[in-house]
Amino acid sequence: MAQRIDGKAIAARLVAATAADVGDLAARHGVVPGLAVVLVGEDPASQVYVGRKIAQCRRAGIVSIEHRLPAATAQQELLALIARLNADAAVHGILVQLPLPPQIDAARVLDAIAPHKDVDGFHPVNVGRLSTGAGGGLTPCTPLGCIKLLDTVVDDYRGLEAVVIGKSNIVGKPVALLLLERECTVTVTHILTRNLPDIVRTADIVVVAAGSPGLVRGDWVKPGAIVIDVGINRIVDGDGRARLVGDSVTAELDHAAAVTPVPGGVGPMTIACLLSNTVQAARAQLERAAAIGTDAARA
Ligand code: GUN
Repeated sequence: MAQRIDGKAIAARLVAATAADVGDLAARHGVVPGLAVVLVGEDPASQVYVGRKIAQCRRAGIVSIEHRLPAATAQQELLALIARLNADAAVHGILVQLPLPPQIDAARVLDAIAPHKDVDGFHPVNVGRLSTGAGGGLTPCTPLGCIKLLDTVVDDYRGLEAVVIGKSNIVGKPVALLLLERECTVTVTHILTRNLPDIVRTADIVVVAAGSPGLVRGDWVKPGAIVIDVGINRIVDGDGRARLVGDSVTAELDHAAAVTPVPGGVGPMTIACLLSNTVQAARAQLERAAAIGTDAARA
């Protein structure tokens, strides 16, 4: 039987550690981290995700500042809001929930967020820092969550074969970079990759983020491999009941060494990492302000 990696428990520990960091920042510096959450439109899944993010902020002691804008919001209006949030010292992190309505150019919006407040890690500066391994940037939450789950079952990544299924900017590409940084041999595949099952069979680590329910079958997975399933797909059973399934068929993965369940695997880690990124951003902003203060005192 494969080990189930308990994302819910690991995320709860990270939220508790983040809450302790929040308490420390408040006690030592009188600063409470603030996260601005921007939702444009009424996409039902986005509304659920944003609601969860705000609820978890409260649990960790982070102040969340909600901005819900109508679906018809003009790009200029959203850019003006981001400019205000960039300039607001009480806002340490800015998250614009994706997807955005079609009249808005998401890349322009993500570019407009100050890189040091970009707790999603989607700004080109943070993407660049991740891809060069320069450090000091903010790392996208879901990929970071995947690595934190892997860290509980992998001692030494060096030379392991990792196959990533999915090439999105939110998960596939950044998780591949994080695995490469740990010196895995990384293959990035996607839904049009030829011989996908054969490629996945070579993997010691499989990260699947394809948005395709049950894509990875038991006979795709090498005995002893680790499967991180990022998929969250709502399907309707034969009896008409809706349930959540991942991008792999967990019931066929008994021969794997470890797997993440859906729900209760990667999902809770995304929000926990968002909170810890917000505290990291707040701390960095404090340090920057202190350094500027020191320079000013010297001048
Ligand atoms: N939509 C789906 N995943 C994400 C995420 O991690 N961040 C944001 N901002 N939007 C998303």
